[in-house]
Amino acid sequence: MSKRTIKLWTLGLIVSLAGIYGLSGRSVGAFSAGPLPSRTGAPALGTFPAEANCTQCHRTNPEVNSGPGRLTIGGLPQGYSPNQEFTVTVMLTQEGRSRYGFQLTALDDSGNPVGTLTSTDTRTRTLSGAAGTFAARLYIEHTLEGTNQGSWSFLWRAPAAAAGRVTFYVAGNAADGSGTNTGDFIYTNSASIQPAAASTPVTTVSAASFSGTVIAPDSIAAGYGVGLATGTESATTVPLPTTLAGTTVRVNERAASLFFVSGTQVNFLVPAETAPGAATVTITSGSGAVSTGTLQIAAVGPGLFTANTNGQGVPAAVLLRVRADGSTAFEPLLQRNAANTEFVPLPIDLGPETDQVFLILFGTGIRFRSALAAVTVSVGGTNAEVGFAGPADGFIGLDQVNARLPRSLAGRGNVDVVLTADGRAANTVTVNVR
Ligand code: HEC
Repeated sequence: MSKRTIKLWTLGLIVSLAGIYGLSGRSVGAFSAGPLPSRTGAPALGTFPAEANCTQCHRTNPEVNSGPGRLTIGGLPQGYSPNQEFTVTVMLTQEGRSRYGFQLTALDDSGNPVGTLTSTDTRTRTLSGAAGTFAARLYIEHTLEGTNQGSWSFLWRAPAAAAGRVTFYVAGNAADGSGTNTGDFIYTNSASIQPAAASTPVTTVSAASFSGTVIAPDSIAAGYGVGLATGTESATTVPLPTTLAGTTVRVNERAASLFFVSGTQVNFLVPAETAPGAATVTITSGSGAVSTGTLQIAAVGPGLFTANTNGQGVPAAVLLRVRADGSTAFEPLLQRNAANTEFVPLPIDLGPETDQVFLILFGTGIRFRSALAAVTVSVGGTNAEVGFAGPADGFIGLDQVNARLPRSLAGRGNVDVVLTADGRAANTVTVNVR
């Protein structure tokens, strides 16, 4: 081979290699398919120097955040609990752009990586830090497929032990789609979360009886604790909200519908799908404070609503009178006491022999009774025939039980009403029969 041939041969090799690897910048390293790690623009932290950002190569607009767009980090809770996992969404918006990219990392105040980033679709991928200083850090960034839209969602799982303040650092590129590193706008941003305050206990009971050891699915429960909500609020919409005044309730990680929240009490619907056995209730206040407790779930856990909302005394019930001629009338069975401080029974008049008087009780935790015959109502020790025991029409979690008052009760005065469903007794309530 002559010198000249070698030269030509080498030239040919270079040209063909250029063809394969690309010297045009268009295919070099395929940056659009996910940039090099450790380019989030995270500042100097602890012993770590600051990270570069995308302007290292995308230099047309060398100042970050100089464009008219916006780069945000969404989905972060106010406080994180150990092992808590949530979906983080990075949004990059700028009018008239055709491709987008990002890279994010989660660091503690000393610059160490915290928690785990997980990609949930093919639009993002995770990678470890650039060899050397940032090797231990973890990153998540766009893939080639993920450049089509300026929005990416992925998971971050908190570490098993609280790690102080965690800051998410992100850099984004609102690109012109030229397939080169020119003509693009680079943005950076960060957002921090603190560990949630240590969890405080919450005690859950039937919102009707305020007692009992078991709670039924699809029944109304009351959780008691401290710091459960940042304000007092009642639901005003149906379906019920799962967030009220910033408070959420989870039963075995399933979101519960909320009726009412306050600092010390939260009324919620036990999710209908909750399996029998021990269940965990987690109440998270808008402040980030977390309260947890356990409760026992069983198909049936009857409770009766009472007029004084304390599970005792006169029930929050009505009477239905059916006369011989078939006419019907609803009548009250409670009244205010003389001092006007609480509700007491209003004597029930059973009327003439031909009247039938039904006690219509409202409760919760009854609907999943095995059979109508498995529901009993005893009034003053006498069995009252149960004609209906099931969901009250048009209400959430509320059950209704209709029982015919035996005429033998006439003249008995105050009598106890004891309801059982599948062998479980509800709170004892009191009516008065004249
Ligand atoms: C080491 C240099 C370098 C760094 C750092 C870099 N890029 Fe790039 N980037 C390129 C080059 C070269 C191209 C064009 C080639 C290609 O598309 O792969 C490119 C292309 C892109 C494109 C497609 C642009 C278009 O208009 O089609 C996106 C999106 C992108 N990069 C995002 C990012 C993001 C986000 C960062 C920062 C987290 C970043 N890049 C950091 C070199 C870099």
